[in-house]
Amino acid sequence: MKDLRNHTRHLVGIDELSAEEILKILSRARQLRENEENGALAHPLTGVSVITVFFEASTRTRASFEMAAQKLGAQTVSLEASASSATKGESLWDTGRTLAAMGPGVIVCRHRSAGSGILLAKAVESISDRTVIVNAGDGAHAHPTQALLDALTLTDRLEDLRGRTIAIIGDIAHSRVARSNLVLLGKLGAKVLLGGPRTLVPESLRLLAPNIEIVRDIDDAIEVADAIMMLRVQFERLQGPPPFPSLSDYSRVYGLNMARARRMKPGAFIMHPGPMNRGIEIDNDVADGPTSVVTFQVRNGIAARMAVLERATQKGPWKRI
Ligand code: CP
Repeated sequence: MKDLRNHTRHLVGIDELSAEEILKILSRARQLRENEENGALAHPLTGVSVITVFFEASTRTRASFEMAAQKLGAQTVSLEASASSATKGESLWDTGRTLAAMGPGVIVCRHRSAGSGILLAKAVESISDRTVIVNAGDGAHAHPTQALLDALTLTDRLEDLRGRTIAIIGDIAHSRVARSNLVLLGKLGAKVLLGGPRTLVPESLRLLAPNIEIVRDIDDAIEVADAIMMLRVQFERLQGPPPFPSLSDYSRVYGLNMARARRMKPGAFIMHPGPMNRGIEIDNDVADGPTSVVTFQVRNGIAARMAVLERATQKGPWKRI
């Protein structure tokens, strides 16, 4: 039977993309980035409205989606969640249907609840086949465009990810970035080492994908990885007693400082999706040092999101979600 998953019109998670489609998006992002650098960017989204609605704070994702949409010629509407009718009790379902009734090409949504992306996709599909949902982060579930921009940054430097080893260190349990990345990296043939305390990196994470290994001593991961992604502790999602005795204890055992960074393989580099909590998971001199590619990740966010928005508005035999 033909696998139609890669024809799902919405982008809710990485699971729905095949390796082939991920590579196609990365290749298109590279082309759009080059066109932009050469002043040769076309405006394929002219006449398309892109609504961004962020129910949770964001700097990078929101700004880069809006820039990406505008660079491609779209009109952007930015809905302030704190000033939306959600504050009067309107459900996400009704918000989705209301916005879809206005006929935008794309709604980009961030929400603190896992599953909000798929719910919104079902809500818009209940009244319209014109509007595509792009998930800009839903709780601890998924952040597909972050994984795509990270993959763009990785493949810029490593090219083929097959046989590569990528370490992801920090609060994996509450991280949508880690979840989307480890699925994508598995599809592209990379091995993922997850490092951090048991309270934030439970053994059960092994079940998420076959390409995962859990490493308790982060130095073991740092010494063998081709790239190291540091993640912040998602304090806003923690419940119950603190998952470690103190921030200084966490930083000493699981933070990336210069002494640890010196143990990296030659050519290995450091990534962080942001926002960074400097002095906790990463020290200043490492975050701003020559092996850090954090600002390249941010720049690649625009290219990756241009490619995603272009894909979202392309005509094709899309499968309903
Ligand atoms: N990486 C990321 O999603 O950052 P923002 O929360 O600033 O969008």
